[in-house]
Amino acid sequence: MTTTQTLAPAIRVQGIEKSFKDLQVLRGVDFDVQAGSIFALLGSNGAGKTTMVRILSTLLKSDAGTAAVHGFDVSAKPGDVRESISLTGQFAAVDDVLTGRENLVLVAKLRHLKNPREIADDLLKRFSLTEAGGRRVATYSGGMRRRLDIAMSLIGNPPVIFLDEPTTGLDPQARTEVWQTIKQLAGQGTTVLLTTQYLDEAEYLADRIAILHKGTIIQNGTLSELKQLLPTAKVEYVEKQPSLEDVFLALVGETGETDTSPDGPSDSAVPARKEF
Ligand SMILES: Nc1ncnc2c1ncn2[C@@H]1O[C@H](COP(=O)(O)OP(=O)(O)O)[C@@H](O)[C@H]1O
Ligand SMILES: [Mg+2]
Repeated sequence: MTTTQTLAPAIRVQGIEKSFKDLQVLRGVDFDVQAGSIFALLGSNGAGKTTMVRILSTLLKSDAGTAAVHGFDVSAKPGDVRESISLTGQFAAVDDVLTGRENLVLVAKLRHLKNPREIADDLLKRFSLTEAGGRRVATYSGGMRRRLDIAMSLIGNPPVIFLDEPTTGLDPQARTEVWQTIKQLAGQGTTVLLTTQYLDEAEYLADRIAILHKGTIIQNGTLSELKQLLPTAKVEYVEKQPSLEDVFLALVGETGETDTSPDGPSDSAVPARKEF
């Protein structure tokens, strides 16, 4: 594998549209995800992130456009797509009554793998859950549950994993734990598509970030490419790089800008024009 062949993208999305009755959620979404990278689909609540992930994981049909995962078209080859992916949602799919190890063994058996116990022990080790492995999941912290959930989704080594808001609802320490787990995954060659509404999460984790807003991808690039969209602000000789948050707010345009029209209601305490 030393040739400079261009790898086909692990995920290719072209012109995807999806409406729910009158509500147009996706209006022509396009993006590619390179194999082995972490790609963040960033958008506010209700932007359509889960809808996009459900289409890619064959749970939902799009109205128009094409999508391929691991080389398989999601409409034409849904079975092959399902064999190539795992999906972890916002709510952990672990069984509280079982221990961590039992959860893993169960999934490995369901997937007809040969040595479920070895697989379970290996994953417990990789996710720093060896000690907790013999305890019921009911006793786990939020971060441990989410880590176990991600570990379960890796059984069978799917080349592509979807993490839909992997840290929503977690406390800061648990978020950090999950972030480290996700970084490790991509380090081992797995392609990760994660959705998030957290700018710092995308900033920390993703090789590329695509901003989904009003049904389309309004920007797609590396963190430094996105930052270049805004000029560097100079504040008293100190250069300040724009944060991803600055870029996001500038693109999405929801900075809470006020109506400065002279006919509008005036407030004598506020200057008529705002200068940036
Ligand atoms: N099955 C459905 N039926 C009707 N509306 C839906 C359905 N699924 C999602 N929606 C709507 O589509 C929009 C996008 O939802 P979703 O993809 O879950 O957004 P996100 O994951 O970015 O928060 C929301 O307005 C949501 O209410
Ligand atoms: Mg969602």
